[in-house]
Amino acid sequence: MSQATHASDRGETALRQWLAPFEPKLPIDELVVEVNRLFHDFEAANYDRRHPEVLEQLPPLWQAMAQQAVRLRPQTKWRILDFGCGTGFEALQLLNALPTGSIESLTCYDLSPGMIEVCRDKVAPRFSHAQFTTSLEQLKSQGKTYNLLATNSLLHHLPDAAASLAELESLLEPTAVWLTGHEPSNRFYRNADCLAAYERFHAEQSQRRVARWSRRLQPRYLAERLQRLWRGAASPKRQTADRAFELGWFGRRPPGWLIDRLVDRHVAHSADEASAGRGLDFEVLAREFSGRWKLAWHQTYSYMGATYEGRLPRVWQAQCGELARRYPNDGANFCTLWQRAA
Ligand SMILES: C[S@@+](CC[C@H](N)C(=O)[O-])C[C@H]1O[C@@H](n2cnc3c(N)ncnc32)[C@H](O)[C@@H]1O
Repeated sequence: MSQATHASDRGETALRQWLAPFEPKLPIDELVVEVNRLFHDFEAANYDRRHPEVLEQLPPLWQAMAQQAVRLRPQTKWRILDFGCGTGFEALQLLNALPTGSIESLTCYDLSPGMIEVCRDKVAPRFSHAQFTTSLEQLKSQGKTYNLLATNSLLHHLPDAAASLAELESLLEPTAVWLTGHEPSNRFYRNADCLAAYERFHAEQSQRRVARWSRRLQPRYLAERLQRLWRGAASPKRQTADRAFELGWFGRRPPGWLIDRLVDRHVAHSADEASAGRGLDFEVLAREFSGRWKLAWHQTYSYMGATYEGRLPRVWQAQCGELARRYPNDGANFCTLWQRAA
């Protein structure tokens, strides 16, 4: 597949094949947006608890991005649009990292009403003039412009990031900056050495799992497992699958893994998925955005795929460090900072 393939085509064939047996009744892009809305609504109340790694890993990266933004636009009074704000993570990072008093306005938008409510509870006490909305139309009708666009863990949920960005451009100043935190990168799975280390890690984990089997037959372990299964019945994935089926979006109830693939529209979970064209690559995005946005700063990290390396044994952390030195652009996640090309 050509590296320059447009985002909306990436992995589309694979997704169509996965969807077909469950008889989707909406066009794929609409299904991706609506399933995201449902899923994140179900996830909102527990989102922060389920993603502790974000809170550990990301603050220094947001601090670095905020410093870069200030370097590019010194003395700016920031008018921030936080797009896909979720529970308020990046809004709070910016409130912490930008110079005191430099934020003129802060608007938080998300398509999930559940997420916006959690965000309001966390952000309003820190910035009383912040605005919260689930309506893109309302944002557009206000005639307000922004000089800083913030997104975190958002692009991979969008049907087509370039199209969403183009839609937002009328709201952004010609010299606006865009801070994009924590997106998954398929470059990791396309790097043979990174992939080999990842496979070695998984092989070791599987061996440990075999060794744990005897413990699994203990009654106490079985009771815990049953409890976890019961709690799993109410997982956002399953709740989303049930509701999407009730709403008539599918002819057959979709399994949880398919909901995952729709919610994480542009995530490659494996080398096979990366080679089937799924996933994001910041260099491909830079080509797609060329003439409209200039890549001003980037950092990649996470050298054990989706596994958070901060909690790995030292030997694997050292391996991750070595890969990061050799392949600084091929971590499994990336943060980028873009400047609008006026
Ligand atoms: C992984 S969460 C990240 C939330 C927050 N930015 C953070 O980093 O904690 C993704 C967020 O994007 C929102 N989202 C997904 N698709 C969207 C879309 N098409 N438009 C706006 N928001 C969207 C979800 O509702 C969810 O709150």
